Amino acid sequence: MTERILQHADPSILKIIYARHSVRSYAHTPVDSAAIQTLLYAAVHAPTAMHDEPWAFVVVQDPVLLQRFSNMAKPLFVEEVRHRNAHGAGHSFEHFTRPDFNIFHGADTLILICAKPLGPFVAADCWLAAENLMLAASAIGLGSCVIGSAVAALNIHKVKTELGIPDEYSVIAPIVVGVSSGETPATSRKEPHILSWKK
Ligand SMILES: Cc1cc2nc3c(=O)[nH]c(=O)nc-3n(C[C@H](O)[C@H](O)[C@H](O)COP(=O)(O)O)c2cc1C
Repeated sequence: MTERILQHADPSILKIIYARHSVRSYAHTPVDSAAIQTLLYAAVHAPTAMHDEPWAFVVVQDPVLLQRFSNMAKPLFVEEVRHRNAHGAGHSFEHFTRPDFNIFHGADTLILICAKPLGPFVAADCWLAAENLMLAASAIGLGSCVIGSAVAALNIHKVKTELGIPDEYSVIAPIVVGVSSGETPATSRKEPHILSWKK
């Protein structure tokens, strides 16, 4: 069975899955509209519960806006982390307090996957779309990184208004994309932890 599956498997998709990793250093090489469209089409090909396709997208390529959103996001995220750490989590995010730290890692392009959070699977749909988008980025030679630390700031009412995001929508997955500057090694993974395998 496995042999038959492997015979028909496209090794390039596996290579892309294994090669994708978060990129945190970007060259100032603009990502053109055709590349962005490729990523968005890949995103909307993700599986979606009840074929709802709940997603909507925002693309930000204005460096002044990106810097402003980074500045807004940092104190909010530090506050969030303090709150979480007070309740038992233990991550340190000291670099978020540095004035020169940019949460978008200097990328010129930020894509927001937004949705009307109506059903129980909307977040799942959007995160599946996010992974499709990042794998597609990898396939066309672009780096990417999820920026969860920007979620709170990007969901502030006046930020949403500025970005043309209707009230009933939320920003679910902010993802930066761009040309990687230099080599970033792939991140290691633990072996799959199989709790049981009943035959
Ligand atoms: C929901 C989510 C939020 C994340 N938020 C951030 C973030 O704010 N900043 C960042 O640099 N990386 C962020 N990441 C990237 C993770 O740190 C990264 O995926 C993880 O360390 C594994 O590394 P890899 O993507 O290179 O395999 C986020 C990833 C996910 C899935």
